[in-house]
Amino acid sequence: MDKVIHGILHAFDGSDEAAAAGGGSKKVKGTVVLMKKNVLDFNDFNASVLDRLHELFGQKVSLQLVSAVHGDPERGLQGKLGKPAYLEEWITTITPLTAGDSAFKVTFDWDEEVGVPGAIIVQNKHHSQFYLKTVTLEDVPGEGQVHFVCNSWVYPADRYKKDRVFFSNKTYLPKQTPAPLLKYREEELVHLRGDGTGELQEWDRVYDYAYYNDLGNPDKSAKYARPVLGGSAEYPYPRRGRTGRPPTEKDPKTESRVPVLMSLNIYVPRDERFGHLKMSDFLAYALKAVGQLLKPELESICDSTPNEFDSFQDVLNLYEGGIKLPSPLLESLKENIPLEMIKELVQTDGEGLLKYPMPQVIKDDKTAWRTDVEFGREMLAGVNPVLIRRLEEFPPVSKLDPKIYGNQGSSIRAELIQKQLNGLTVEQAINMNKLFILDHHDAIMPYLRRINTTNTKTYATRTLLFLKDDGTLKPLAIELSLPHPEGDEFGAINKVYTPADQGVEGSIWQLAKAYAAINDSGYHQLISHWLNTHAAIEPFVIATNRQLSALHPIYKLLHPHFRDTMNINAFARQILINAGGILEATVFPAKYAMEMSSAVYKSWVFPEQALPADLIKRGVAVEDANSPHGLRLLIEDYPYAVDGLEIWSAIKTWVEDYCSFYYKSDETVQEDKELQSWWKELVEEGHGDKKNEPWWPKMQTVKDLTETCTITIWIASALHAAVNFGQYPYAGYLPNRPTLSRRFMPEEGTPEFEELKQNPDKAFLKTITAQLQTLLGISIIEILSMHSTDEVYLGQRDSPNWTADTEPLEAFERFGKKLGEVEERIMSMNGDKRWRNRVGPVEIPYMLLYPTSEGGVTAKGIPNSVSI
Ligand SMILES: [Fe+2]
Repeated sequence: MDKVIHGILHAFDGSDEAAAAGGGSKKVKGTVVLMKKNVLDFNDFNASVLDRLHELFGQKVSLQLVSAVHGDPERGLQGKLGKPAYLEEWITTITPLTAGDSAFKVTFDWDEEVGVPGAIIVQNKHHSQFYLKTVTLEDVPGEGQVHFVCNSWVYPADRYKKDRVFFSNKTYLPKQTPAPLLKYREEELVHLRGDGTGELQEWDRVYDYAYYNDLGNPDKSAKYARPVLGGSAEYPYPRRGRTGRPPTEKDPKTESRVPVLMSLNIYVPRDERFGHLKMSDFLAYALKAVGQLLKPELESICDSTPNEFDSFQDVLNLYEGGIKLPSPLLESLKENIPLEMIKELVQTDGEGLLKYPMPQVIKDDKTAWRTDVEFGREMLAGVNPVLIRRLEEFPPVSKLDPKIYGNQGSSIRAELIQKQLNGLTVEQAINMNKLFILDHHDAIMPYLRRINTTNTKTYATRTLLFLKDDGTLKPLAIELSLPHPEGDEFGAINKVYTPADQGVEGSIWQLAKAYAAINDSGYHQLISHWLNTHAAIEPFVIATNRQLSALHPIYKLLHPHFRDTMNINAFARQILINAGGILEATVFPAKYAMEMSSAVYKSWVFPEQALPADLIKRGVAVEDANSPHGLRLLIEDYPYAVDGLEIWSAIKTWVEDYCSFYYKSDETVQEDKELQSWWKELVEEGHGDKKNEPWWPKMQTVKDLTETCTITIWIASALHAAVNFGQYPYAGYLPNRPTLSRRFMPEEGTPEFEELKQNPDKAFLKTITAQLQTLLGISIIEILSMHSTDEVYLGQRDSPNWTADTEPLEAFERFGKKLGEVEERIMSMNGDKRWRNRVGPVEIPYMLLYPTSEGGVTAKGIPNSVSI
């Protein structure tokens, strides 16, 4: 093969020289970097690239310059077009290139009539697609280097109704766009919006909105029917990307699902798809494997030999020894997934052992997770540190409508907790800001009656905590509530448990903590993680691509924060959050999971997603001009909030620096047509079920704009990282974060109570997540906690030439430097014993908001976007 390529290169060398010698007119030379790659070619990735590169030579790929300075009177004054140029020799000497990249030479005839180019038209007359990364022109007269950062799949020309246009890296507000480029700018957006009809195909680039009507599968059986989320007052939801698949036969409002074996072919706009590099594809594969192969196989194994973990050692064996995979399962995995992937995925050795890495929470100490200190600490530094609130009223109250739900107030009384308050009365403790609550009562109670008709048997919980002088939180009481058996209007049935470390009381207290952890892990997965980051961001991705041109400064600001989001969300709808999917199988609300997240979305408030607003709302911080970031934390050692505020401020400063370069006044914001359409659409379509909320920024001032962009970037980067990458480290060991319970608290006089007395560990394990769900759950969160090796972190961009403007580039450099300082600060705080919540009994230093990371499960790193 080498010889063939050499031959071709040689031929090109010859013709190139001839053209240069013969023409006499000036030439502009350039470099085209592209990736020719079949997404599914894993086994022999490099070979396939080499094999096919030569196919792009000849007149297969043409590039035409579009003038930014001279309009063509015959084409409605659109920029004049230069003569087509073609990919020439393949450059093998350019470094550094990512694996799979190839660089080609291209030579344009310089045409004075065209002058400085502002765009480039690319036509692919080859029979398959390639991924165009960049085009760089050298020595353009009067301009020097000109960069086109493309990052887009280019399909054969007959797949498109109109030519592919890529703009140079200049940035223009709509009004400042050079006249010859204006029509290109507008037409590109029209194209990306699509016409709202038809089923979208692999090569389409259309961004459009749809409801979540693709989770159910009523054609399979009524058991798999699910309500449509979005588009109604009953089930409001953010929009997802439209795919246009036909409706199901049973229910015209439900969209048919992609057949199981085609899962990787679910439509997302082409450039939203994983497939930059190997590792991201691996993650897609892994998800597919767990969802479609491991799940049914494990189900059948566990059905035939229903297994319980008998002891904690039994659970530890998953990580220390592994469980033996039956050979049929291994064979079916091998048939469906390349062997390399299987090795990575299930860590099988030659004997077919299914092994998981040791979760960090039990790495140094196998029992520290059971301490009350650690239980409290994880509310400040664990995987769901976004919920704890200061208790302002005692006993805790409910906001559920008493007309429907009766009395839902708490039964926790002062005498139950008084003794644990270091001599303070409850009132004093409240006044001194020392009482806190993890309150899952109101979110769960309305669904609890239905949830408990499934295999789940659980409670709605409230956990009361006391802030000790050493800065740690001590749980005071856990209240477990059930709906009244005779009807909702009779209120809740509450039972309150207090700490104990001995005898059966100690075992009961451990179970009470487990029920609280179950509520918290379900709420975490469904709300903190899925709804508040993955689902909330998708409308921003869609609106931005439909309404802001690639030339727009705000497009350039936000675009890196949308990488892979539509794709991972599409996968999630296919195998995680769908009817009968992994989430329903492993999280306590079971088939009501998504419906419950829709109920919680009713109280989602965009401006409260800002970290400072969130902390103030939860009463854990107060405004204070003398404190850094203008906030004083009432729990001083709150690692998520402390690091979060540093990151928040860094993002805010960067966004302000960037926006102020383009928007010198509020009028500039008001007069920016694209920006106004973008925001209108985001509010009225993307989050359309909340369009009448009074709290949406009005997008009339520079402040509206910077606040909105800061929140958007915060959600997509740091907020997601804080709730995502700790999943395996903390919840990979299910006893610490059980996802569901199968029976209620044992009552005295029952065999279960006797068992709890005799063998408390076994009783605990029989209550929480069963073996099958444990295996499934940890398989999936291991993948979801993983960074791909090509991850782009906060403060980084995938191309240094993303804009041609110097001041924004300098501001971005300052942003990166600031984040470097935050990293140093995090390291030094983690090493300082004064901060007892940063490391804790389990010896996990708080790194979830440490900006950078290596690949793999690292419990740190803030990717730019919701990418997994
Ligand atoms: Fe995630």
